Amino acid sequence: MVETVPWVAVIMGSKSDWEVMRQADETLARFDVPHECRVLSAHRTPAQTAEYMSQAESRGIEVVIAAAGGAAHLAGVCAAHTLLPVLGVPMESASLKGLDSLLSTVQMPAGIPVGTLGIGSAGARNAALLAIAILSASRPALREKLRRFRQEQSEKVLRETLP
Ligand code: RP5
Repeated sequence: MVETVPWVAVIMGSKSDWEVMRQADETLARFDVPHECRVLSAHRTPAQTAEYMSQAESRGIEVVIAAAGGAAHLAGVCAAHTLLPVLGVPMESASLKGLDSLLSTVQMPAGIPVGTLGIGSAGARNAALLAIAILSASRPALREKLRRFRQEQSEKVLRETLP
């Protein structure tokens, strides 16, 4: 069996994030982008998170998507351990509806950037689309798929009729 080197790593702080983050997985799969999804936590598995991120670039990974909720430091911790671009997805939380996750992901002090998407499903899908846009800068075939996706999306909107 031929092993495919993943281009994108999709990391989430808990299995409970999967129902939302599977939308990033599905979007990457739709574009045939090799990727892997893992549960790694900044506070529950700190050593394994650091080790995984330290090895990501040498394994061939080019973009990291990191999702977490609550005191959501996962994306920042991931970014601290790699030079790869890290896209953060704040998970909706029970207590504060994801505002806690959003602020703790987006408000990185200067020096270690995290490109933060919106809370929840839209953020998960957009993180995948942004990863695809980054990857497509050097992959014309992928860029063409992204262009077609946008075109189909536009055509769908223009076909809408109102009651
Ligand atoms: C974060 O805490 C996870 O990313 C998740 O969004 C949140 C709750 O995790 P569980 O208690 O459901 O495992 O670390």
